[in-house]
Amino acid sequence: MEKKNSIIITSALPYANGEIHLGHIVSTYLPADIFARFWRAKGKKVAFICATDDYGTPILLRSEKEGIKPSDYVEYWNKRDHKDFEDADIKFDYFDKTSSKENTELTQYFFKKLLENGLIYKNDITQFYCETDKKFLPDRYVIGECPYCKEDEQYSDGCEKCGRVFTHFEVLRPRCITCKTKPVVKTSIHYFFRLSELSDNLKKWLLDNKNLQTNVKNYVMNWIDDGLKDWDITRDITWGVPIPLEEAKGQVLYGWFDNHLCYISSTLKYFEKNGLQSKKTWNESEIYHYIGKDIVYHHFLFLPAMRMGLNNEYKLPEFIPTRGHLILQGQKFSKSRGIYIGLREFIDEFPSDCLRYYLARITPYDQSDVNFDWDDFQVKINNELVASIGNFIHRTLTFINSKFEKKIPSPDEMSNIDRKFIEEIKKIPIVTGKFLENNQTDRAIREILSFSDKCNKYFQEKSPWSSDNGNTTLYICANAVLTLGIIISPFTPKASNHLFEQLNVKKKIKWNGAADMKLESGHEINQAKILFEKIENEKIETKKSELGKKT
Ligand code: 2FM
Ligand code: ZN
Repeated sequence: MEKKNSIIITSALPYANGEIHLGHIVSTYLPADIFARFWRAKGKKVAFICATDDYGTPILLRSEKEGIKPSDYVEYWNKRDHKDFEDADIKFDYFDKTSSKENTELTQYFFKKLLENGLIYKNDITQFYCETDKKFLPDRYVIGECPYCKEDEQYSDGCEKCGRVFTHFEVLRPRCITCKTKPVVKTSIHYFFRLSELSDNLKKWLLDNKNLQTNVKNYVMNWIDDGLKDWDITRDITWGVPIPLEEAKGQVLYGWFDNHLCYISSTLKYFEKNGLQSKKTWNESEIYHYIGKDIVYHHFLFLPAMRMGLNNEYKLPEFIPTRGHLILQGQKFSKSRGIYIGLREFIDEFPSDCLRYYLARITPYDQSDVNFDWDDFQVKINNELVASIGNFIHRTLTFINSKFEKKIPSPDEMSNIDRKFIEEIKKIPIVTGKFLENNQTDRAIREILSFSDKCNKYFQEKSPWSSDNGNTTLYICANAVLTLGIIISPFTPKASNHLFEQLNVKKKIKWNGAADMKLESGHEINQAKILFEKIENEKIETKKSELGKKT
């Protein structure tokens, strides 16, 4: 399939109520950022978009607990998340929020259109209601005793002790979380989205779309075959997008109704800021929504169904790259048990390039879980990034610095070995590029690594320190270094930029020109500096001993 000129890439929106951690990074943000960087280097127009997911009961509850207005609360996390992303070189073209004016408008527009098209209907539902606070109490606003294991202080939707999920009104001795009084049961009118009606359309879309990963497609098909339930899109709280109907005053839309629409509203804003016709550009772009496997249901059913409900006024995605969860030292990632690493903590202690390299290196393009292991992290950084890639770059540049007065030498006649090595240089951006196009970051890195091993081998074999024709070797090696710098740039952008400074290359070289031997004889480079430092045992031992100790 011929690639479109304009590519929209979104990453699942983080809830605005906690910090970004490595679990988020591995499945969603890093693969998307690498992909965006790759296509920018290929010269495509890329819009890489994200936002915070601001609405929902858990966020409202947290802000109330902390005594902060919900809008101020989410504003804090929006800034904090954005800063953490930037410091990890996850570089969005636009970072927005679901509570923006534009997203509210788009969400209300979708609601009205779906209503007009007969895809939304009303139904009575009964709920807990607090007579003291004069409000309906969604699940998390009611606590009580677990009917199974009798543990008290459990939310009314399930027990954290025994793991059982409760049906409505099953919880024993229910109390309002705010005032602790016993709630009554009251009826209210809710709006439902006819997801079931779109079953056939969804099935056809899944079958026709050859880009979606087969595994995911299969289990979504099973859900459809089991029968889809209509979806309650109303919440009786004050924090959310208001339902745009007089009769629904005081009710808001469920967070999952508005959050994925923010992919659209923020991308359109970005296009408008860049003087583009926003809706047209959306519909003419190739669209990727990057997600983790826990939100497949929402992205393979709610999201496409809502766009279908508007007769594809906003195009559906071509790709929904879905990846697995992060495991830490073989254990389930869990903040409360301290089996956890926050992004901020990590990049304050290690270069972000190391994190990016390691995670991309171990994350396949499928839904299997990925194990972060501190020893393995050290081995891969020290043996691969430092001893192979970094070593070749550094020995080449220091040699040119000291033996050729910082100038790229002019080559003599080439030998077979030289010519064969130049062939490898020519091949590597193509091979790596193919894997990156297909989202296989792990395989792309393995190719790069095998290339840098060949580079070291060539350098060693030619041993320029002992031969007369060091100039040919160093001319070729310098250009191999440049190629390497370009093809590792999606993974290790900071190091690549430092390398371009050392090579004194000021103009951005595109991916397709990466093997064009652009460093000419006589070009003067700068002082060589180490790009990647070894990670010491002590640091790794400390990190290992911290596991399971935090709360
Ligand atoms: O599961 C989550 O963390 C959600 N905040 C993801 C939202 S993605 C969306 F916007 F579609
Ligand atoms: Zn109450």
